Amino acid sequence: MKVLGISGSPIENSNTDRAVKVALEATGLETEFVKLVDYTVAPCRACLGCVDTNRCVIEDDGILLAEKAKAADALIVGGFTPYSSLDARTKSFIERLYPLRHKHGFMAGKPGGAVITCAVPEGNEALPPAFDFGMNAIKFYMMEEGMEFVGAVKVMGNVPCIKCGFGDECQMTGVKMLYGPEATVASVGVNSFEDQPGTVESAALLGREIAARLKGKSLQA
Ligand SMILES: Cc1cc2nc3c(=O)[nH]c(=O)nc-3n(C[C@H](O)[C@H](O)[C@H](O)COP(=O)(O)O)c2cc1C
Repeated sequence: MKVLGISGSPIENSNTDRAVKVALEATGLETEFVKLVDYTVAPCRACLGCVDTNRCVIEDDGILLAEKAKAADALIVGGFTPYSSLDARTKSFIERLYPLRHKHGFMAGKPGGAVITCAVPEGNEALPPAFDFGMNAIKFYMMEEGMEFVGAVKVMGNVPCIKCGFGDECQMTGVKMLYGPEATVASVGVNSFEDQPGTVESAALLGREIAARLKGKSLQA
């Protein structure tokens, strides 16, 4: 049994990367971690050139990644939410799994889960539901391919303005937009996956649940 974990976050050793790795580790199975920024994956051209061959006509790394997904028994997809939707790398990766659909449904029946890192603080109803938008893109991909969507992990990430160096004085700062007019870079601080114990546990739970589903069981009541 092999579980493939994907991170669409381009940041080195990012929150998304680390959360996906915790989920993979918790499966106790053979795993592979793929960081999409290390690959070149164009979006689907909707040309239907893959219908007869189950192979994309775009000769980039999307072909290799689709082969990895096809060979895996389960899939954990991690992304983040620029402008409140799933990041482009993760979306392109998902689109390039379309060749696996035709006539065979190569992903059907496999368990899958999502990790979404977003910067919208809990309880701020005035902001777009970035987590839901990101998570649904992965969830509905899995559902539309007949996969078994096991669950999603929400990681609190960082608005880039926390780290850009101008987060307190820039008129466009996301620090105040997200956390209110009194918020500063210092008062908000840097969110780290490991400092969110419930989230670390959720990631491990996702991995354990995927392993259980692969053995025909479920840990959920
Ligand atoms: C161009 C850009 C736009 C962003 N816009 C949003 C946003 O609209 N909503 C949100 O929740 N996070 C937004 N973010 C923040 C990311 O979700 C955040 O950087 C995330 O923590 C990155 O995850 P990582 O730590 O795994 O790299 C944005 C980030 C970038 C780079």
